[in-house]
Amino acid sequence: MKRTILVTGGAGFIGANFVLAWFKLGLGTVVNLDKLTYAGNLENLASIRQNTQHIFVHGDIGDQALVAQLLAEHQPDAVINFAAESHVDRSIHGPEDFIQTNVVGTFHLLEAVRAYWDALDVDQQERFRFLHVSTDEVYGSLGAAEAAFTENHTYAPNSPYSASKAASDHLVRAYHHTYGLPTLTTNCSNNYGPYHFPEKLIPLIIHNALAGKALPIYGTGQQIRDWLYVEDHCAAIRRVLEAGRVGEVYNIGGWNEKPNIEVVKTLCRMLDEKKPRADAKSYMDQITFVEDRLGHDQRYAIDASKIANELGWKPEQSFESGIEETVDWYLAHQDWVANVTSGDYRNWVQKHYAERGEELA
Ligand code: NAD
Ligand code: DAU
Repeated sequence: MKRTILVTGGAGFIGANFVLAWFKLGLGTVVNLDKLTYAGNLENLASIRQNTQHIFVHGDIGDQALVAQLLAEHQPDAVINFAAESHVDRSIHGPEDFIQTNVVGTFHLLEAVRAYWDALDVDQQERFRFLHVSTDEVYGSLGAAEAAFTENHTYAPNSPYSASKAASDHLVRAYHHTYGLPTLTTNCSNNYGPYHFPEKLIPLIIHNALAGKALPIYGTGQQIRDWLYVEDHCAAIRRVLEAGRVGEVYNIGGWNEKPNIEVVKTLCRMLDEKKPRADAKSYMDQITFVEDRLGHDQRYAIDASKIANELGWKPEQSFESGIEETVDWYLAHQDWVANVTSGDYRNWVQKHYAERGEELA
């Protein structure tokens, strides 16, 4: 059945991948509300520019009147909330935007959605879903021998970013528990793939390697993340939307834990093969250990058994195949990289890495 959905943050990394896949699969209409912060980019959606089923709206999830108007006008049967400030390092430099969008913005969005849902007829109410896209970082950090995060793991966020996401998760939970809003929450591990903004580890390393710049590794590089190809995350969200039990939380992950240094070395080896340096030396020579992130979480790992057992979802891409697709995408889309790394991006990189003694801008 075709649906009309309201997606927030659909010009960002995961949101754009989600919207593009939605149209590839012919699933219906998307109203795409995005504030177009530095992380939002309409170029990500260029291939659907002519598609009349894609209605892009430039605006803020915290603008309750705007959200109410969009809901009334388009009558979506689901809202999928990707919109957020998403970069941990930025949250350390300046937490306020994170509180505004991730906490206050989600609150206003929920209020608008609650009023809309309250006024629907019973059948529409039954069908409606509010799906909140969240992160594994809300669970805090794991020791080397600890079991991976299940949905019952205690919340213990450690950065302003993860604390703001945890707050938003709690609001979503409360709107279900108190008002009966049919919510679903997903907590996912680290994504990678096309359209990933080059402030995050994988695209930053690819970009810096090709530009002949240092490849900055925080601390010892032994911190562990659980990597998932972005299209697998989007497939999991579609599956939760379709069949997830109302009020439930689903953890999504790649069963793929890797220390940062290993990820960076894999990228170097792949680039050595696909785009050798002019001097025939390895990109590994560019690896530079820099000052650690404040409060750096040591390890994340997701136990994705619930979504596998209940909903039959599992990732399709291995890390090896996903990372190769990603490197190929970046090599083929250097114009996209050039566009997003102009302007404000330079200021950010200069400020952030200069504090670590590196001139990366
Ligand atoms: P992103 O930073 O690439 O994109 C965020 C998008 O939200 C941008 O298009 C931005 O313009 C938009 N936005 C920001 N503030 C807004 C506001 N107030 N109103 C409307 N739009 C706004 O982020 P991403 O990596 O695509 O992450 C999307 C969601 O998934 C986030 O909620 C994030 O917490 C979550 N998540 C991300 C990852 C990951 O590895 N990237 C993993 C798990 C969960
Ligand atoms: O776990 C899910 C989360 O993954 C999402 O909720 C966040 O939105 C997303 O940004 C990501 O957070 P991380 O902090 O894990 O991602 P990032 O790419 O910033 O860093 C990955 C690891 O690499 C982390 O341990 C820090 C390290 N790192 C990062 C950068 C940018 C470096 O060593 N050097 C760097 O220059």
